[in-house]
Amino acid sequence: MKAVILVHGGAGNDFDDRVEACRQGVERAARAGWQVLAGGGSALDAVEAAVRVMEDDPQFDAGHGSFLNANNEVEMDAMIMDGRELGYGAVAGLQRVANPIGVARLVMERTPHSLVVGAGAEQFARLMGVPVCPMEELVAGSGTHLLRPEDRVFRPDDAGDTVGAVALDASGALAAAVSTGGTAGKMPGRVGDSPLIGCGGYADNELGAAASTGHGEAMMKVVFSKTACDLMGGGMPPQQAAEAVLRLLERRLGYRQAGIILLSPSGEVGSAFNTHHMAHACIWGEGEMWIKD
Ligand code: GLY
Repeated sequence: MKAVILVHGGAGNDFDDRVEACRQGVERAARAGWQVLAGGGSALDAVEAAVRVMEDDPQFDAGHGSFLNANNEVEMDAMIMDGRELGYGAVAGLQRVANPIGVARLVMERTPHSLVVGAGAEQFARLMGVPVCPMEELVAGSGTHLLRPEDRVFRPDDAGDTVGAVALDASGALAAAVSTGGTAGKMPGRVGDSPLIGCGGYADNELGAAASTGHGEAMMKVVFSKTACDLMGGGMPPQQAAEAVLRLLERRLGYRQAGIILLSPSGEVGSAFNTHHMAHACIWGEGEMWIKD
């Protein structure tokens, strides 16, 4: 079978003590995505399933365990993309939903819009019957960074645990999904790269699929994920494209924490990061798997 699922749990510098937990988290996520693909399911269903597992895992900065903003509140961003027809749905600044990726998908499939934010996104989620929860439930996880007043400053290098997945299904379709609580101490209302098409992620059956992590303000300036997909579309293997887009980011904007996973239309994978760790896992073929960090 030519299906592939590749997931990451974020590029970061400060979680040596959580390396094993993050490895286990991405393995669980990859297995959830693979279960969908192995059952003949779509790449879209696979990336959503994988990201939901990481949103539910408090180790990661997405869903449960999201970083807090300067008001000590959760504001989450997510996007999903269907490479068959360039379908795209996203939410930003969502506060009381445990799985923002599901709402992003509903935006894509059930509205004429692409990106819905804040109170409107929550209202839409309620309308769609998505369970809402007290924000406190999302901050109860061990991965959550409760901020002391003196720490309530924007820390762009704490964007490390954004999660993402890319998949290729048996029909040859590609998809990408990304979810994040954003950066620690961010200004309320701040939106990073993750929900922005071509920045946090991208999927086009003709080019490839990408899911990115890192310093959103820098990554959006080079349209990080779409740039990597364009390199693949021009014939560059995904591993080289992943390394090239990181070099581009550093050349144009200096060192900025970042990482990316890539999947080509033929199922080749690539990954690169400039931090100490980026837990990522891949399953393909007859269920072969690797996990790296
Ligand atoms: N890459 C996640 C963020 O900057 O919000």
